[in-house]
Amino acid sequence: MGKLDGKVALITGAARGQGRSHALTLAGEGADILAVDLVGQIGSVPYPMSKPEDLETTVKQVEALDRRILARQGDVRDPEAMQALVDDGIAEFGHIDIVCANAGIAGLGDALSMTPRQWIDMIDVNLNGVWFSIQPVLRPMIDQGTGGSIIITSSLYGVKAPPGNLVHYTAAKHGVVGIMRALAVELAPHFIRVNTINPTFVRTDMMQNDSMISVFVPDEEHPTQEQFENAMQAINVMPVPWIPPEDISRTVLYLASDDSRYVTGTTALIDLGAMQIS
Ligand SMILES: NC(=O)c1ccc[n+]([C@@H]2O[C@H](COP(=O)([O-])OP(=O)(O)OC[C@H]3O[C@@H](n4cnc5c(N)ncnc54)[C@H](O)[C@@H]3O)[C@@H](O)[C@H]2O)c1
Repeated sequence: MGKLDGKVALITGAARGQGRSHALTLAGEGADILAVDLVGQIGSVPYPMSKPEDLETTVKQVEALDRRILARQGDVRDPEAMQALVDDGIAEFGHIDIVCANAGIAGLGDALSMTPRQWIDMIDVNLNGVWFSIQPVLRPMIDQGTGGSIIITSSLYGVKAPPGNLVHYTAAKHGVVGIMRALAVELAPHFIRVNTINPTFVRTDMMQNDSMISVFVPDEEHPTQEQFENAMQAINVMPVPWIPPEDISRTVLYLASDDSRYVTGTTALIDLGAMQIS
């Protein structure tokens, strides 16, 4: 018996990183998966984004767990594409019970030099894309009459200020906390719960790349991995630089399952204590 037997989870950004980890964790507890990822590059993103073969790997790994998965290349910024994905998912599985609005981008830019393109891309993916991922599911989820769980990936920087150079990301990640709070109230009569997860640094390709390393260790021409991890660790309280994606997925599983059946409207910090210091 899995905690999610008979459930179907829509996961955005499922090709790699946390999205893939959530897919495998939820499938490991019995859920079938409806997966979507851009698997392409956005010009203003300063690190390599995922590729089609990454999504294929997620598909193979979910199938190896003996679960079904319907995976599509798609863009959370495109409401028509997200509606078509949900329609396909309902046709394939009959229902959707869980949404992990996880797809996102990172990027750094100080307030004075940030370009309109950087701002628009960030808000489009990390705020508009979250809404376009959730809205098409609401009508079928309400009509099912069996409740549901919507889990939005925010960030530590959805509830506090970052050290700097991150106003667009911070705005989007605070914005999705607003979506969560409003939806938690509106959907509570239907037993559809809505929560955010708010991680500190997570060990994925979004962080482990030359662009991020040079930002965290600005004074070194050739920064080492150790210097990078020391710089990240300084932002946390526990003596750890970042969290493995699998540990984020454990909180997602809790929020997706009946273990949290009366939990809604919350911001789940997974932050190595970072919220407690400035
Ligand atoms: N890594 C961290 O330190 C960290 C910390 C806090 C929050 N987050 C958030 O966690 C989420 C997952 O990030 P990750 O760490 O797994 O990074 P990642 O870059 O490994 O994965 C993000 C995935 O989202 C996909 N994606 C991006 N834009 C998309 C779009 N327009 N449409 C569809 N898919 C799109 C990417 O292709 C990629 O596969 C993001 O929302 C991120 O902001 C990350």
